[in-house]
Amino acid sequence: MTEQNNKHDNNKHNDKHKAEKCQTIFIDQVFPSMVNHYDTLFGGIALQWMDKAAWVICTRYARKTMVTVAVEEIIFKEPVPLGSMVELRARVERVGKTSITAFVETYCENPLTGKSKLATTGMFVMVALDKDGKPSQIVRA
Ligand SMILES: CC(C)(COP(=O)(O)OP(=O)(O)OC[C@H]1O[C@@H](n2cnc3c(N)ncnc32)[C@H](O)[C@@H]1OP(=O)(O)O)[C@@H](O)C(=O)NCCC(=O)NCCS
Repeated sequence: MTEQNNKHDNNKHNDKHKAEKCQTIFIDQVFPSMVNHYDTLFGGIALQWMDKAAWVICTRYARKTMVTVAVEEIIFKEPVPLGSMVELRARVERVGKTSITAFVETYCENPLTGKSKLATTGMFVMVALDKDGKPSQIVRA
């Protein structure tokens, strides 16, 4: 094997190692159509973003069709004002036989000051499905 091939293989190994450790992170912004009558982010939109972040991390983990079966322990700790930057962070918390539980956090950042605070947290349970739509065993992809 040449030195270049060796380097290539090491990079592939490092990439896989990094992927196992890293979280899924999304950034979005709170537009006027997303707020309630208090001018803060509507909770349903926050849940939609969190569900999506959970789906990405679980799908990357299993590389199977994943659907949400349960949403648990949602806590809206802080309101998220109109115009905020919102950062979603998801990580795999538990792997079962056919399900994965992802822990998702939402951080709200003031775009002018850079001040950031934890706004929402929750657990999302996703089930892997086979081609017939039945629960399918999780095997680390
Ligand atoms: C997901 C679905 C196939 C699971 O069917 P099911 O008959 O409940 O399957 P099972 O009882 O075998 O449970 C499958 C896994 O889900 C978990 N699960 C099921 N209901 C759960 C609940 N209420 N809370 C937490 N976990 C749950 C089980 O513990 C099991 O996990 P494990 O294998 O890791 O131990 C079925 O409920 C479904 O199709 N739901 C609709 C999904 C959907 O449309 N989501 C919204 C759009 S993505």
